[in-house]
Amino acid sequence: GAPVEVDISKLEPGQLIRVEWRGKPVWVVKRTKQTLDALAAHDDKLRDPASDEPQQPDYAHNGYRSIKPEIFVAVGICTHLGCSPSYLPDSFGEQVQGVTSGFFCPCHGSKFDMAGRVFQGVPAPLNLVIPPYQYLSDTTILVG
Ligand code: FES
Repeated sequence: GAPVEVDISKLEPGQLIRVEWRGKPVWVVKRTKQTLDALAAHDDKLRDPASDEPQQPDYAHNGYRSIKPEIFVAVGICTHLGCSPSYLPDSFGEQVQGVTSGFFCPCHGSKFDMAGRVFQGVPAPLNLVIPPYQYLSDTTILVG
């Protein structure tokens, strides 16, 4: 599949846009400062907070899992059995106590934070996959 250009110039804080790359949904989310600050606060609830899993780009091996902290890019497919999780920008606390936003997989209840990091005690074994991508400019990302 060909790489896909994504224009992020109109992306609002908290907004998620979906593009398709190699037949898969790819999410691009603009995280707020508040969201970024909150990421460090629940490491103890995660399976792999520093994202040490080897099969992903270098820029995914940290707590933000992105090239630029505010822009999160991920393959929107649950690492359990491949459903597409829902983005819960402000009602995630109902799923995970004390965490306000994240991704919830309706198929078997897996939960991921705003860096796509999987919570403990759910069926998904791994953090969400981060695709290869690069910045062509401040407002354009190339996925693939
Ligand atoms: Fe997402 Fe099973 S496919 S929890």
